[in-house]
Amino acid sequence: EKGGFKHFMAKEIAEQPVVLAEAIQRGVANGTLNLPEDMDFSKVERLTMVACGTAYYACVVAKYWFEKVAGLPVEVDVASEFRYREPPITPNTWAVFVSQSGETADTLAALRFCQGKAAKIVGVVNVPTSSIARESDIALPIRAGVEVGVASTKAFTCQLTALALMALKAAQDRGRLTAAELAQYIADLSALPGLVNQALLIAPEVSRVAKELAEAQDILFLGRGPLFPLAMEGALKLKEISYIHAEGYASGELKHGPIALIDAHVPVVVLAPRDALFEKTVSNMQEVMARHGKVLLISDAAGLEEAGMGCWRTITMPSVPDFLAPILYAVPAQLLAYHTAIAKGTDVDQPRNLAKSVTVE
Ligand code: F6R
Repeated sequence: EKGGFKHFMAKEIAEQPVVLAEAIQRGVANGTLNLPEDMDFSKVERLTMVACGTAYYACVVAKYWFEKVAGLPVEVDVASEFRYREPPITPNTWAVFVSQSGETADTLAALRFCQGKAAKIVGVVNVPTSSIARESDIALPIRAGVEVGVASTKAFTCQLTALALMALKAAQDRGRLTAAELAQYIADLSALPGLVNQALLIAPEVSRVAKELAEAQDILFLGRGPLFPLAMEGALKLKEISYIHAEGYASGELKHGPIALIDAHVPVVVLAPRDALFEKTVSNMQEVMARHGKVLLISDAAGLEEAGMGCWRTITMPSVPDFLAPILYAVPAQLLAYHTAIAKGTDVDQPRNLAKSVTVE
């Protein structure tokens, strides 16, 4: 059932090109977006997005997308805070709940709080028969297929893909996209599964670095813009399966505290495609190196040529359109966690203290 792989997690990481291709094929038809008919964003004034764990990080990425391409304000919260805070829901707000299992107790409770208050409840779910799917006004399936590994991998990239399609639909409905721009986004999306395939080829390099990372007590992950949530996701994944303490920070927050941790024993993983904010991230990286921090820079060839010098280790990613970078950079985040856990000999598919579906709060 593991299809020749040692772990479900490895199988699920490897399945991503195929499941993403399927999700994109279903979400795009005849060169236009193909989302549920009642998903019309023209009168929506605000999104409130709620989830837990990895699904929450997918929401944080989506916030950058919705705000940038659709000009739609987005509030994001973890379900356990949202549900007891009981925030006011303004008119024409859509409430979006993202959950692989569709059964997470806090997310479901947050959804129920929004029933009758939000203009529409959207569930972005993997399990189509789940409570969250059933109780949503619009259930948007992510179609990742069954995910067995406790650490979420393909569900995360499929959540991101579904949310990217939603953000493009919102931009279209709100008159923010020309036909040519939409066509370009769709072409870029269609090329994504191929890029993910290429990114998977970094596995041997990652496995070498992971043997060294496995010696660390603490690891920092840095990212900026839509790569900031990927830094948090990379840290979460690593904690979950290798039990190494890791934290994800927005690169610009480094000097507001975490830089005090930097010494020659703390590896710092920097997720930084050569995008518009690259220079800013590089200067944060240099601050780490000036304090003898060990930087692992994960970037594309252009980024590494510009800033790879002096880094402890580098990993070369395919170059990718900015919009899709957070989806592609999920791959190194997953592989780093996986191979570090392998190096430590932990139980990758069934990490201690964790359950696949958290149905109690
Ligand atoms: C991380 C992980 C958890 C889940 C979280 C939400 O790898 O698996 O953080 O993402 O428990 O679960 P769902 O998406 O089922 O609501």
